[in-house]
Amino acid sequence: MAKGSRQAIPSDRRRQDALRGAGEIPRHIAIIMDGNGRWAKRRGRPRISGHTEGVESVRDIVNACGELGVRYLTVYAFSTENWKRPQDEVSLLMRLLVKALRDETDRLHSNNVCLRVIGDVQALPAEVQGGLRESIRKTAANTGLMLILALSYSGRWDLTEAMRQLARDIAAGRLAPEGVTEEALAARLSTAGIPDPDLLIRTSGELRISNFLLWQLAYTEFHITPKLWPDFRREELYEAIAEYQRRERRFGMVSDQVRPDRGRKGYVRRLLKSVTGP
Ligand code: FPP
Repeated sequence: MAKGSRQAIPSDRRRQDALRGAGEIPRHIAIIMDGNGRWAKRRGRPRISGHTEGVESVRDIVNACGELGVRYLTVYAFSTENWKRPQDEVSLLMRLLVKALRDETDRLHSNNVCLRVIGDVQALPAEVQGGLRESIRKTAANTGLMLILALSYSGRWDLTEAMRQLARDIAAGRLAPEGVTEEALAARLSTAGIPDPDLLIRTSGELRISNFLLWQLAYTEFHITPKLWPDFRREELYEAIAEYQRRERRFGMVSDQVRPDRGRKGYVRRLLKSVTGP
């Protein structure tokens, strides 16, 4: 097993059982992995060593999500904006991706993980595209966790592509303008068929979405942690899920509507009481 990541040990099993017993495990977790550069800088090392250590975190979180029964995990591995970084860093990141795909695919496969990619894949170097194709092909029939790599991805890119597709369909007479609904747009996003994230984790304390899944995060719960990504391991994931379980997701409704334990009659009585007074 590679350093820094591990399979579940007995204390993990206990913690995972406790989380499952305490509430719902998020079906889809999305992660903005931030802070690799700062992690390296604090140690006086080159930025790439932060990214290398970041791969260890990805591995640990993928293992833990699989064990917990999370269905989808989307990681923001390279944004459209990241192309503007110094050329050296972009090349090293691409090489790291190729290496990670080469090193990890067998393990992903034996853990029943299915790999997918979202983003402008055509913009990636041929070697990365080849590695992705091979890993996706090999893991396509797996039925466990779906690991979705967001690569050369941005939310605006995704929305623009979907809108272009809608425009094409209208121009070709396949769709009436009235057919442009939320569902029609969602079906043309790169995440079509994948439920929206329940939980978004962002490391390194920044309070931004950074052009990630702009449409898909509409009702997602956010967990922002000061931990830098290379320090974010399964213990931090357990904490994030525990915090998620303490939240109440109302989707624009009021608390009593989303708490089945409190019944509709009780809701109406309490609503009237809140209007008329005790
Ligand atoms: C942000 O940290 C991180 C990235 C831009 C790249 C993330 C990539 C990895 C973790 C490695 C490859 C991933 C996979 C899925 C194999 P930053 O460089 O912006 O950090 P900083 O804000 O401290 O400078």
